[in-house]
Amino acid sequence: MKRPVEGFSKLTKEQKIDWLAKAYFYDDENAVYVLKQYWNEDTQLQKLHDEFIENTISNFYLPFAVAPNFLVNGEYYTIPMTIEESSVVAAASKAAKFWQKRGGFIAKVIDTEKIGQVHFMYSGDKSRLQTFFTYIKPQLIHAVKDITKNMEKRGGGIIDIELRDKTEALTNYYQLHATFNTLDAMGANFINSCLEQFAKTFKAAAQDYSEFTSSEKDIQIVMSILSNYVPNCIVHAEVSCPVEALNEDRLTPHEFAEKFVRAVAIANAEPHRAVTHNKGIMNGIDAVVLATGNDFRAVEAGIHAYAARDGQYRSLTQASIENGIFRFWIEIPLALGTVGGLTSLHPLVKIALEILDKPSAKELMQLVAVAGLAQNFAALRSLITSGIQKGHMKMHLFNILNQLGATEEQKKLIAHQFKDKTVIHSEVVAAYQQLTSN
Ligand code: MEV
Repeated sequence: MKRPVEGFSKLTKEQKIDWLAKAYFYDDENAVYVLKQYWNEDTQLQKLHDEFIENTISNFYLPFAVAPNFLVNGEYYTIPMTIEESSVVAAASKAAKFWQKRGGFIAKVIDTEKIGQVHFMYSGDKSRLQTFFTYIKPQLIHAVKDITKNMEKRGGGIIDIELRDKTEALTNYYQLHATFNTLDAMGANFINSCLEQFAKTFKAAAQDYSEFTSSEKDIQIVMSILSNYVPNCIVHAEVSCPVEALNEDRLTPHEFAEKFVRAVAIANAEPHRAVTHNKGIMNGIDAVVLATGNDFRAVEAGIHAYAARDGQYRSLTQASIENGIFRFWIEIPLALGTVGGLTSLHPLVKIALEILDKPSAKELMQLVAVAGLAQNFAALRSLITSGIQKGHMKMHLFNILNQLGATEEQKKLIAHQFKDKTVIHSEVVAAYQQLTSN
């Protein structure tokens, strides 16, 4: 039976680990050893990581890799990726190489509008609320001048504020729906600060508005927060080539192109497949988003909402064959930043951004979309030809052998044994045991 703990956040890191080890581990010394094994010797660097979040007791490493040879809009990029799934980086690199020989990726940002909302309740006359909003709107914008002036100097700021009547969805529910241009910042702090000030000014002004009845003056602000659903912050990436150029697989180019287009059509038509199809796309997207210090949960939530925008969850990619040309493209919402937040704090994120030549937010949007498209291409290419297990299992084999503590020589020998065989965990263990018992 575990006990609750009082004042945990006030304990030192050592004390937290001690408490945890005693409360949850039979072999508490080993638990302490493992947790401390991941501490960084550089105390300054460790302190930086400790302070990212509360109650840090250790570091959780994920591999930081790069996928080279991405030809995007005529320039070569090496894309940094942070991910634990074994086949993702290899697949990205393979797709990059494939398209490098066929003109590369073309990517374009369509729009960069961010959204934030003040959600409030009002139970009076609708037209009086609209008149009040029209009267107060310039004051709302004026009230946040201190927050917006720097962003405005650089060409960004508030795009617009609308009053939205949501009473059909929920009784008495309205919004101030604000749109922003946050340039190279993801903009969460900027947007939330503006919204909280809008809410204060809006509520206070309503109380003084003589046209309102006394109950109308009592607007109830429920919350003020940015939206991670950004359907007007969109990037498009695509590849295309003559069908004849799809000539590297065991299918004929025409068979390949047709099967590929059908595979995408299936993901468009059927949500079970769409979820897995899009998960493969997110393998690429999340890995770059994470490596570049962006918020992958925000990106995930926004992208999946977009995939279901017509009421059914569908593929994020599309493919076509027209006049002998195979085209494959993706269009996704992405709210990313290349300044502020983790981008200026995390040393590896800074390196990732330098590898990408310090991109603007728009350039990063393009590269992230390209990584998603490349990942989907690689997955579908395997699925419609050799199947996914061949590549996956090779990596899986090495993971099992690493777990068993195999040497490089032993790995080579066992990999040879499994060259044309299905990788089954128990059989790998048996092969290893046989090798080591000799
Ligand atoms: C595995 O992480 C991703 C795939 O399942 C994606 C797909 O099925 O398209 C291979």
